[in-house]
Amino acid sequence: MIYKPREDSRLLAKQVRKHAFGLVLDIGTGSAIQALEAAKKKNIKKVIAVDIQKEVIEHCKKNINNKKISFLESDLFSKINKKFNTIIFNPPYLPEDLRLKDLTLDGGKKGYEVIERFLNDVNNYLKPNGIILTVFSSLTKKDKIDGFIEKNLLKYKELDKKHIFFEDLYVYQIKKSELLKKLEKKIKDINYFTKGHRGILFTGNYKNKKIVVKAKLPESKAVGRIQNEIKYLRILNKKNIGPRLLFYNKDFLVYEFVEGSFIVDYIKDNDKNKIIKVLKNVFNQLYIIDKLMVDKEEMHHPLKHVIIGKKITLLDAKKSKISGISKTAKAVLIDFERCHKTKKPKNVTQFGDFISSRYVSSILKNKKIKINKKRMIELAKT
Ligand SMILES: C[S@@+](CC[C@H](N)C(=O)[O-])C[C@H]1O[C@@H](n2cnc3c(N)ncnc32)[C@H](O)[C@@H]1O
Repeated sequence: MIYKPREDSRLLAKQVRKHAFGLVLDIGTGSAIQALEAAKKKNIKKVIAVDIQKEVIEHCKKNINNKKISFLESDLFSKINKKFNTIIFNPPYLPEDLRLKDLTLDGGKKGYEVIERFLNDVNNYLKPNGIILTVFSSLTKKDKIDGFIEKNLLKYKELDKKHIFFEDLYVYQIKKSELLKKLEKKIKDINYFTKGHRGILFTGNYKNKKIVVKAKLPESKAVGRIQNEIKYLRILNKKNIGPRLLFYNKDFLVYEFVEGSFIVDYIKDNDKNKIIKVLKNVFNQLYIIDKLMVDKEEMHHPLKHVIIGKKITLLDAKKSKISGISKTAKAVLIDFERCHKTKKPKNVTQFGDFISSRYVSSILKNKKIKINKKRMIELAKT
């Protein structure tokens, strides 16, 4: 089915006329209204227009003869391998109506799935100073779209808004954030990973290694957390504690991704010997942090703060004074943003409390491990 231009098409075309430049990609071209509008501009030499529907592409190829435009069948970027100055997308954005399977309108179950997929991928196809021009309806949920934009390190400007019948239409210009542009100079394949209370995390590829980027959440009021984490990672990395810090600046830090499982999952999935080795290893690291008179905090509930890595190199094991390391698993403590100097560090005791808590001790009991907290704490020092 070919989408007959409507109010959304016209609103978007108006902004294409004003803002489009350079090499252009028109996704979901339909009647090709946006591609044709872009091709009229002198500063545009080439437009690639794609649509998921074969019927649309066949129709356009047959009926539109414009030397600047080439048509291609593609599900979003699946057949695209270039970067563009302008990417235009008037997406299908209505919640799926099961009675009516119409690709021109169905944006997925909730209406925003296609736009979400588009925003998750678009960075790889947009030049550093490129722009995205898109339109969507209030029926698609504006806050969802704004969230997808933020989590992909993009930023937007509302270029137009129009109320029609029972919905509002929004036209957005979306660009790469300054942070993304900085990161992309060094890191490839940047993808949203997770969001904490204070920071937002991304994974990426740096020199063929998987890495984590941690940046401050724009809305977080916490001051200096990133700087604090950098300061303590630098100190603790020297003792082979924490994920290896690779580089940083005032807005973000980048460290090696730790492949592995969270501590409780590890305990559930492994045998007594391995668990004891790992627990001893964690205690050892915490003892070293205690001796530095630093409190990491949160060790009484470190469910997501200790990752048991899949492997450790012999070199790491030798460099480290930490005992209890096996060649198959090493505990890596993460999240040092709340670290601070103290006269009475509590890392070891907090972790002791954690493993003797009812929840963890019952899992350990299933593995035939009985916890003697005092003995554990003693062992940490050896
Ligand atoms: C709302 S229409 C917009 C048509 C035209 N660009 C306009 O502005 O009037 C959405 C278009 O996106 C296409 N489409 C839907 N899902 C797509 C996808 N995953 N990849 C590429 N095109 C898609 C549909 O076939 C349809 O032609």
